[in-house]
Amino acid sequence: MHKKLVILSVIAVTISMLSCSNSKKTEIQMDEDATSKSYQGNPITHEFDEQIDALISQMTLEEKTGMLHGTSMFSTAGLERLGVPELKMADGPLGVREEISRDSWAPAGSDDDFATYYPAGGGLSATWNTELAYTFGFSVGEETRARDKDVLLSPAINIIRTPLGGRTYEYFTEDPFLNKKLTVPFVVGMQENDVAVCVKHYAANNQETNRDFVDVQIDERTLREIYLPAFKDAVVEAKAYSMMGAYNKFRAEYLCENSYMLNEVLRDEWGFEGIVISDWNAVHTSVKSLRSGLDIEMGTPKPFNEFYLADPLIDSVKVGKISEAEIDVHVKRILQLMHTVKRMGSEDRKTGSINTEAHFKDAYNIAKESVVLLKNSNDLLPINTSGINSIAVIGNNAMKKNALGGFGAGVKTKREVTPLEGLQNRLPESVTINYAEGYLERYAPKKKGAVGQVAEVGEVTQEQLTTIDELDPKMLEEAINAAKNSDMAVIFAGSNRDFETEASDRADLELPFGQVELIEEVLKVNPNTIVVMIGGAPFDLGTIKQKSSALVWSWFNGSEGGNALADVLLGNVNPSGKLPWTMPKKLEDSPAHATNSFPGDMSVSYDEGLLVGYRWFDTKNVEPLYPFGYGLSYSTFDIKNVQVEKEDYTKSETIYVTLDVENIGEYDGKEVVQLYVSKPNSEVERATQELKGFKKVLVEKGQTKTVTLELPVKELAYYHLEQKSWTIESGNYSLKIGNSSRDIKNELNINIK
Ligand code: BGC
Repeated sequence: MHKKLVILSVIAVTISMLSCSNSKKTEIQMDEDATSKSYQGNPITHEFDEQIDALISQMTLEEKTGMLHGTSMFSTAGLERLGVPELKMADGPLGVREEISRDSWAPAGSDDDFATYYPAGGGLSATWNTELAYTFGFSVGEETRARDKDVLLSPAINIIRTPLGGRTYEYFTEDPFLNKKLTVPFVVGMQENDVAVCVKHYAANNQETNRDFVDVQIDERTLREIYLPAFKDAVVEAKAYSMMGAYNKFRAEYLCENSYMLNEVLRDEWGFEGIVISDWNAVHTSVKSLRSGLDIEMGTPKPFNEFYLADPLIDSVKVGKISEAEIDVHVKRILQLMHTVKRMGSEDRKTGSINTEAHFKDAYNIAKESVVLLKNSNDLLPINTSGINSIAVIGNNAMKKNALGGFGAGVKTKREVTPLEGLQNRLPESVTINYAEGYLERYAPKKKGAVGQVAEVGEVTQEQLTTIDELDPKMLEEAINAAKNSDMAVIFAGSNRDFETEASDRADLELPFGQVELIEEVLKVNPNTIVVMIGGAPFDLGTIKQKSSALVWSWFNGSEGGNALADVLLGNVNPSGKLPWTMPKKLEDSPAHATNSFPGDMSVSYDEGLLVGYRWFDTKNVEPLYPFGYGLSYSTFDIKNVQVEKEDYTKSETIYVTLDVENIGEYDGKEVVQLYVSKPNSEVERATQELKGFKKVLVEKGQTKTVTLELPVKELAYYHLEQKSWTIESGNYSLKIGNSSRDIKNELNINIK
């Protein structure tokens, strides 16, 4: 532990030695560039189809239906008599969830279910690094195997429609292109470990409010262009082996009995061969669900034989409402998946690994590229440790852990380095840390739903959290004193996984617990204060942006989050994260709120249509607080010499855009070059610009790197409603190259014949 730590908080704190174990080795990011490598998954195997048919012919109806529904919280029935094992699943997006009891949500109390806590979805997407998405998928895939699971309920890829969404932190982005480019390598990486992903939540599940019954209305073009692309590529390119049917309704049908979405789009159009697993308690019928394309019903504690795909389904067969042959179709798919992931019929299934230093390092590598530098106007960052003797570290988030807790899948981990521990690990011994908690995470009495509890129609699962936003005067004084008596201060504020949760959306963009006041008071006594926000979703940072000169955004960032953050603050790592969503100035500026179409009631209509996220802000000329794709570096990059090899293209060609990125600053660093496309005078409504390419590159200081962005012309297509297909419009397009959606450095025109 760092020797000179002075703790000023009235709350007793323990600092775990466990998580300080990482070496002080600093490193500059010198790994390979994130190239536009293409990732392709392996399809479901048909090698065993005859054996599977023979096996099914020996099964009783009861044995078959046992495979179609949960017979424990996270598994379906095996069939010892015929050598069919259980299908074992685990959450989730942050890493392999702790073991849950077989018949309740209570933790199983195992001592062998520790796992690496990986950065949440927002962190991964802020890296804008497709190779790290592959690393994440592969690493968590190894852990899934080591925990002897067959299906990991991840990745969670719903589009961020509103900044208030309770699961914004779990999801990737507001943009369909970034979403699919991260999803594909993630899925490919994970499934290379003989496990299946379960891509969730299919689909149109973009709010927690009324999620159990809300009927979502989205026009077809918006559905195809915004909400489905990542799901589609997960199937078509990455060959995802399973998908999770969402809770809500889409066009009047529950997603788990929505034949349009499951049979027509997913299977017939995209060629999905895997299985559809319901979200936990998202099924409402037997015959209809099965016929609409659902394969497995999972759920929360109730007698497992009462599941719709259990006894009620058997009864339906007996009275002739559905044939046994129809049931065989689903059993066969499940057995095909088991063979594909080598759960059956193979001796050489991968065994995986877990909690390894290599995996912690994967989590670190993602975290270090995810941190977004929002403001650095007085060059307070990186912290120059040679010029200071003391740092005030202020804020509950300096010590807050986010791996477990909250309402939603967490990870039981042996390592979660907090921001304070990260600084202790990385600061030289000569610097004293004066810690003050500053604000408390406090809630007014609230009725919080039990984990996994699902409401009946019309019932609310979880009341909005009511926070207590008055500061404790004594704690405020301690924070002010710590700041006054230190050469500089770092405030760790923002959110946490109790406040941002599954099953409820936030009420507004306000920072809870009196944090704005605390930050303002600290800034008054020590202007050398760096404000670090930790969270997963946009907040109203207007006042803080105005008053502080150094502002950093970090995430629920995994086992090594604190070390990665400290490395960025101290300049061992040059920040290269970019916002994967728009930070609005105020809630009403965001499309779902500007159109007054959130959260709806029994039904919600996505009235902003195609104009989700920055598409709205750019098209309607609304200035955001921080735009999509934004993030500073300690260096400055010059993007120049943007060229295309020619001006005219056919619809089957690829446009190669080359450009030079020169690092004219003092630090080696990574920049994300972004390509946005506009179609002037389009025959259809379009957003002012849309992301159609990006690449993250490492450029050493003083060096120039030539980058090529590949843009297949088919990426320019829009979804044609009458033709029900993707159509590429001929004519002029402008290609805009920049390092954020609002910082376009160069523009070129091309023509499509
Ligand atoms: C969530 C899913 C999760 C499932 C099992 C549901 O409440 O929506 O994302 O995988 O529970 O824990």
